[in-house]
Amino acid sequence: AYGGSQARGRIRAVAAGLRHSHSNVGSELIRLTGTKYACGRGGCGACTVMVSKRDPMSQKIRHFSVTACLVPICSLYGAAVTTVEGVGSIKTRLHPVQETLAKSHGTQCGFCSPGMVMSMYALLRNHPRPSEEQLLAALGGNLCRCTGYRPILASGKTFCSVSRRLWGLLCKARMTDRQNHLLLPFIKICTELFEKEEFQPLDPTQELIFPPELLRMAENPEKRTLTFHGERVTWISPGTLKDLLELKMKYPEAPLIAGNTSLGPAMKSQGQFHPILLSPARISELSVVSKTSDGLTVGAGCSLAQVKDVLAESISELPEEKTQTYRALLKHLKSLAGQQIRNMASLGGHIISRHCYSDLNPILTVGNTTLNLISKEGTRQIPLSERFLAGLASADLKPGEILESVFIPHSGKWEFVSAFRQAQCQQNALADVNAGMRVCFREGTDTVEDLSIAYGGVGAATISAQKSCQQLLGRRWDELLLDEACRLLLDEVSLPGWAPGGRVEFRRTLVVSFFFKFYLEVLQELKKQVERFPGTCRSPEISDRFLSVLEDFPVAVPQGVQRYQSVDSHQPLRDPVGRPIMHLSGLKHATGEAIFCDDIPMVDKELCMALVTSTKAHAKIISIDPSEALKLPGVVDVIRAEDIPGTNGAEDDQLLAVDEVLCVGQIICAVVAETAVQARRASEKIKITYEELEPVIFTIEDAIKHNSFLCPEKKLEQGNIEEAFENVDQIVEGEVHVGGQEHFYMETQRVLVIPKTEDKELDIYVSTQDPAHVQKTVSSTLNIPINRITCHVKRVGGGFGGKVGRPALFGAIAAVGAIKTGHPIRLVLDREDDMLITGGRHPLFGKYKVGFMNNGRIKALDIECFINGGCVLDDSEQVTEFLVLKLENAYKIHNLRLRGRACLTNLPSNTAFRGFGFPQGTLVTESCITAVAAKCGLLPEKVREKNMYRTVDKTIYKQAFSPETLIRCWNECLDKSSFPSRRMQVEEFNKKNYWKKRGIAMIPMKFSVGFAATSYHQAAALVHIYTDGSVLVTHGGNELGQGIHTKMLQVASRELRIPMSYLHICETSTATVPNTIATAASIGSDVNGRAVQNACQILMKRLEPIIKKNPEGTWEDWIEAAFEQRISLSATGYFRGYKAFMDWEKGEGDPFPYYVYGAACSEVEIDCLTGAHRKIRTDIVMDACCSLNPAIDIGQIEGAFIQGMGLYTTEELKYSPEGVLHSRGPDAYKIPTITDVPQEFNVSLLPSSQTPVTIYSSKGLGESGMFLGSSVFFAITDAVAAARRERDLAEDFTVKSPATPEWVRMACADRFTEMVWNYCLFS
Ligand SMILES: Cc1cc2nc3c(=O)[nH]c(=O)nc-3n(C[C@H](O)[C@H](O)[C@H](O)COP(=O)(O)OP(=O)(O)OC[C@H]3O[C@@H](n4cnc5c(N)ncnc54)[C@H](O)[C@@H]3O)c2cc1C
Ligand code: FES
Ligand code: FES
Repeated sequence: AYGGSQARGRIRAVAAGLRHSHSNVGSELIRLTGTKYACGRGGCGACTVMVSKRDPMSQKIRHFSVTACLVPICSLYGAAVTTVEGVGSIKTRLHPVQETLAKSHGTQCGFCSPGMVMSMYALLRNHPRPSEEQLLAALGGNLCRCTGYRPILASGKTFCSVSRRLWGLLCKARMTDRQNHLLLPFIKICTELFEKEEFQPLDPTQELIFPPELLRMAENPEKRTLTFHGERVTWISPGTLKDLLELKMKYPEAPLIAGNTSLGPAMKSQGQFHPILLSPARISELSVVSKTSDGLTVGAGCSLAQVKDVLAESISELPEEKTQTYRALLKHLKSLAGQQIRNMASLGGHIISRHCYSDLNPILTVGNTTLNLISKEGTRQIPLSERFLAGLASADLKPGEILESVFIPHSGKWEFVSAFRQAQCQQNALADVNAGMRVCFREGTDTVEDLSIAYGGVGAATISAQKSCQQLLGRRWDELLLDEACRLLLDEVSLPGWAPGGRVEFRRTLVVSFFFKFYLEVLQELKKQVERFPGTCRSPEISDRFLSVLEDFPVAVPQGVQRYQSVDSHQPLRDPVGRPIMHLSGLKHATGEAIFCDDIPMVDKELCMALVTSTKAHAKIISIDPSEALKLPGVVDVIRAEDIPGTNGAEDDQLLAVDEVLCVGQIICAVVAETAVQARRASEKIKITYEELEPVIFTIEDAIKHNSFLCPEKKLEQGNIEEAFENVDQIVEGEVHVGGQEHFYMETQRVLVIPKTEDKELDIYVSTQDPAHVQKTVSSTLNIPINRITCHVKRVGGGFGGKVGRPALFGAIAAVGAIKTGHPIRLVLDREDDMLITGGRHPLFGKYKVGFMNNGRIKALDIECFINGGCVLDDSEQVTEFLVLKLENAYKIHNLRLRGRACLTNLPSNTAFRGFGFPQGTLVTESCITAVAAKCGLLPEKVREKNMYRTVDKTIYKQAFSPETLIRCWNECLDKSSFPSRRMQVEEFNKKNYWKKRGIAMIPMKFSVGFAATSYHQAAALVHIYTDGSVLVTHGGNELGQGIHTKMLQVASRELRIPMSYLHICETSTATVPNTIATAASIGSDVNGRAVQNACQILMKRLEPIIKKNPEGTWEDWIEAAFEQRISLSATGYFRGYKAFMDWEKGEGDPFPYYVYGAACSEVEIDCLTGAHRKIRTDIVMDACCSLNPAIDIGQIEGAFIQGMGLYTTEELKYSPEGVLHSRGPDAYKIPTITDVPQEFNVSLLPSSQTPVTIYSSKGLGESGMFLGSSVFFAITDAVAAARRERDLAEDFTVKSPATPEWVRMACADRFTEMVWNYCLFS
């Protein structure tokens, strides 16, 4: 049993309430749903809870956050567990952390919120007034896919002491706003989205105390061995070291389960199974820390967080020269995993796991660490050597032995130790390569007496470069040594071309780049020694331009200002439109009381479903044999295509594969069992035999070669492109590659289908953006009329387009199971299956040919794009259309040809994703502009300005529009970001720094909102007024976290002229509002708002005579009178939709109701030696016109921007050569974390001046911010271009997104990349 048991994807954590009645923790599990389950591998923090234990050494109570999904319940004996329910509740009392998170707008979909609350809560239990750095560290292990983290940090900062920098910024911002005020006297700009003064203060004395019974237990610890017997596993927890050693001798194969952060994931997803687990949790000897004159001995049971504290203490107590190894370890401990994992993982577990990516083992190895082992037989010491790390029997623990403690010696006077690591992002990401390096010099000289270097990430285990080090002994620390060392290291640390994890050249380059950094660092230190001890050695001088590379990028706490236009001073106070109203469910998100699909309690006779998917990319199904699966306990049935009563999807897009599979991950059948675990286990036992088929196509390039396309080409053209190319100064051609993107909504796909007893009725609770589509698909699958099926959507834990089409597939398969078995069926995808099956954003390959004048004016542009659609059509045709329609972005180019085509490949079908083709396609356009600028010797921003729409004009598809707001956004962004002066500063910086470069880029945006069809803009609402005056609003939009329900009640409140407290929205249901359109394309709030407005206006019209008759009456009086007079208090509102059409034959149309304009400027700094980057600053100006709710709209912009930044910088999908997606969890697929937010992040809503067609003139902002994330990408490429210029390399390098550290490092070619190339050529 696990603290975060996976039962149906829901956490059954130990209740805070249990803290006082913990007679048997295991048997008193209370069904609490606040703690969420989103990855099951400790990588997302959604399941964070707080554990409190009495520390046997310090005798103090330790409170620490953990990820419940990795905490075995038996390990909690004697511990108090506080879940989000124990922190506060809307029913009783909110905790300040919960209140603040919600009121600071730190929740959108709310799925990550309980985890965020618990991480902050645990921090505050230890540090009631934390520093901002502590706050950042505490939240580093919590992922949020919606908010962009800024408001979450803002809420946490209210508990910190205000930093001076923040005040400086605020003052600066307010001054600018005062200036603004002078310019636009009628417009008041606000910079506060919440009133901090309203929040209740934190009172640490009010917190729950550690339960006295547990305290008594801890003071008189039980010495007996405790044994817990599970279905398949026995957990043995001895009370003494002697008993532990006896048990270890008896069960030598049984692992010691310490933090379970290594064993847990291996047991969950790598099929490891251990029938006996030995827990050392109660053995205090394993937590002893002792300090001697020559070093530190740390108990193997100490958590990495404790080790971090011990090291920090020693560093503060000892002279610097003695703490070199400790400093190196501390540096890596700060970025190793998130806080929760550091709290759980033990030093012993870390060392014994011997992961090849271990951040600590390379340093411990070079630091001459000794492992103190103990067994029944006695104690012995072994070195933590390469042989030990390679698992050689002669250097390893013997059967029956355990690791008791670790001795880490002090460093010496002429000894230097350093640590290096490079990962996809700075925090909470496994290193691609890491290293520990130590050199010891003959006293007073620069002659190497001892040298050790160890690398992680370059082989199956940590590797020591012993041979190289041996050969360098006795050498002087100079350039000759550097060259020789690089050559030797490349020879010794030889990654074969096929090395697991790929990126071989990058990793080889890091091997030598790290050594170069070490070389410089040591030179620098030697220089200091010379200054301290004159007369000692003379080292080569280091150029000042090289020195900055020695400073690691700081993990800085982001700051920023959000500006928006305040409502007119005459607007009545009760009218909420235009005000930053908190998300309606904000408080419930923060307390965990918001109910998501899988939080619905188990219904009578409910069964669980698990899916069986194809393991082949293209094959004929020869047979499906479920016999073994059906024999397993709890298994009820296997659902196959022949069980479908109606249609099995479409001919070319089947729900369940019949004869042929087209990709790995295609669903073939499903197992129904009593529990989710049983269903999953059985699904692994279904035997499918295949006959592989040809061709197998994965890439766009292969698809083009095979002429494999999903639909005809889409094309738009204007002017005479061929002629224009004849009359230009220059022509450039280029290629752009944009990788795909996983939605990574925190709540995976899930559905609960409940068959009713009468008339074939079905109730379906589903996490979807389009319940009507689910309803329709289930109807055709089951062959029953639509009117028997009701789909309910309370809220969705993030969608981003991924829950538009796919949920219908899962709903229909679950419904077949429900009809066949007669039981309710719950289907909850785990993260791995979700990522494997559902597809995501289309990868794109674009080619451009651009003709331009030397002044940067583009005369002719030809862009051709191909997207990877995957194995079925899905939304790929529409994505291609939108891509082509949006490719021109903000530019007027008279001779323009835009083409797009979707490729058919053997990958899971790609689908809708925020921006719908725009973020990929427009990267091609902007890359082309950058290339033009490089050829003309101009700034890209100048070329952008030169080619931007300037006056009222028509797009390539002949839709008229005015670019006035676009230009205002651009100018405002130039101004707000101080672009011209910062551009100069960047250039100055680049002149002074060789290995670090800065880049800055500003991007304009014209984003079209809505669908290109009128029928897709229709919306309906149903508003009931009840006799007590309360109002129930229902509409066709779904709450995905974007705050649509909040906005709808703001609309209803204005129209009905009553406070929002009178209004309520329960859910979206196909029974109340039928035939709805997907909540997508940024238009949901707009069209549904119109429908709600219409319904309210109808009601007000009916109430008008009553109000006229009794103008002084109250709302309740009027409703009572209306009821008496038999006036209907229920109305349907309807919006017929914006006119929109597109004629592809003619290449003309009016496809979009309106445009959103914006601009973003980002500045970054790159480390040319490692490829890492830091985001220095981003300024966004967005045109929301008259925002309905500035807090929600700014939240959408920030969230989309950060998601876009992820697309363009870190999110990389990796497939095996057989087409199997490898990156199937937060460990392998890196979405931005809190430390990826730009250090300064400012968002301004453009003060409005125009009144477009939309509801109250507010524009839909759901998607547009995504593309602005590309400003970070272009800032990175700007920095890379600066490095390449300096190295006399061509500037027109291939543009590839994401700009990962690998891409940046290899693009900044230098002597080290050359060494690697030469090595490859000649080895
Ligand atoms: C989300 C996540 C992120 C991570 N990020 C990083 C990272 O960035 N860098 C990094 O280096 N690592 C990272 N890790 C790995 C992490 O450091 C290890 O999983 C952890 O240190 C293992 O410690 P544990 O106590 O949890 O070991 P357990 O899982 O409890 O045990 C692991 C092994 O150690 C053995 N063992 C434990 N204690 C003893 C003992 N005293 N004597 C003998 N054998 C023992 C067990 O038998 C078992 O075989 C990450 C892990 C997770 C889950
Ligand atoms: S669900 Fe536990 S960390 Fe993700
Ligand atoms: S609000 Fe954080 S994941 Fe949705």
